Amino acid sequence: MSGPERFLVTGALGCIGAWTCAELAAQGTEVVGFDLGDDDRRVRLATDAEIPLVRGDISDRDALGKALDEHGITHVVHLAALLIPSIKRDPPYGTAVNIGGTVNVLDAAKTRGIQVAYASSAAVYSKVDDAGGPVSNDAEGHPVTFYGVHKQACEGLARIFWQEEQVPSIGIRPFIVYGPGRDAGLTASPTLAMAAAAEGEDFRIAFGGRTQLQFAPDTARVFVAAARAATDGARTFHLGGPAETIADAARAIEAAAPGVAIAVDEETILPFPDEFDGAPLEEAIGRIAWTPLADGVRQTIETLRASSG
Ligand SMILES: NC(=O)c1ccc[n+]([C@@H]2O[C@H](COP(=O)([O-])OP(=O)(O)OC[C@H]3O[C@@H](n4cnc5c(N)ncnc54)[C@H](O)[C@@H]3O)[C@@H](O)[C@H]2O)c1
Repeated sequence: MSGPERFLVTGALGCIGAWTCAELAAQGTEVVGFDLGDDDRRVRLATDAEIPLVRGDISDRDALGKALDEHGITHVVHLAALLIPSIKRDPPYGTAVNIGGTVNVLDAAKTRGIQVAYASSAAVYSKVDDAGGPVSNDAEGHPVTFYGVHKQACEGLARIFWQEEQVPSIGIRPFIVYGPGRDAGLTASPTLAMAAAAEGEDFRIAFGGRTQLQFAPDTARVFVAAARAATDGARTFHLGGPAETIADAARAIEAAAPGVAIAVDEETILPFPDEFDGAPLEEAIGRIAWTPLADGVRQTIETLRASSG
């Protein structure tokens, strides 16, 4: 790709979106946000930089096309989506946003030569896909939620947009992202515990077991690198990262905020496998320097304290 890069981040006001905008601004790369909302509190947690924002609905193809053309966009990091609880309340609208929005991004990229990185999810898989070790990158998923089915459809659409229209893309499947700004969705509970600890309050994390906890700024770096690496084909990767128990996360929170007690509901286990193999992603985009859990937890609590103080 010749000329300067200009990124559009859809879902820019969300947790991963805010950190993706922050990462691009820190790199000195031009970035424009696209989001339905107007509450920039997560962006303010992530960066002091001014991020231009286009307000629009990702299911509105004309609004998206206008934003891409007005800003001469070369790369899209597509994160705008509704998460499991919102979709459950309104499946038709959730489907229009999650599947319709992704089709709009891929279709708009077709005529404009845009490289796309988009968020799929570990929710493409369920417990029946857990064979004991880390789930392989190519394993077939059997989702048990509307959301997981949406993300599986998005992966299929990206594959067909490459096959028939040569739109290059990389899909990333995060598992449990945590960090400042992670306050929505089924798996926000570990970060909600950090927010409570920042206020000196006890908290009970809503699920237990073993999982992969992925620090939001690290996740954002992966999405940026993926958009740059999406020059050829339609590839999809597990995000990977270190496997932890939720109990370890609770102990890390207590260590970072002495005096608070963090309990874990070990009776509730998420309906996903415990661990996904992240090696193929690192082969594609290079080594990922994951922030150790204790450091990520401490940084999250410090950032949340500073923002409320
Ligand atoms: N956070 C995780 O652990 C996790 C795990 C797996 C996958 N993902 C995926 O990563 C992406 C980002 O997740 P997040 O945690 O930052 O979510 P989030 O809910 O914090 O942010 C989503 C953003 O999308 C925006 N949005 C919703 N509907 C829109 C629409 N119709 N048009 C434009 N914008 C719209 C919202 O306003 C919000 O700012 C999503 O696609 C999500 O499915 C996240």
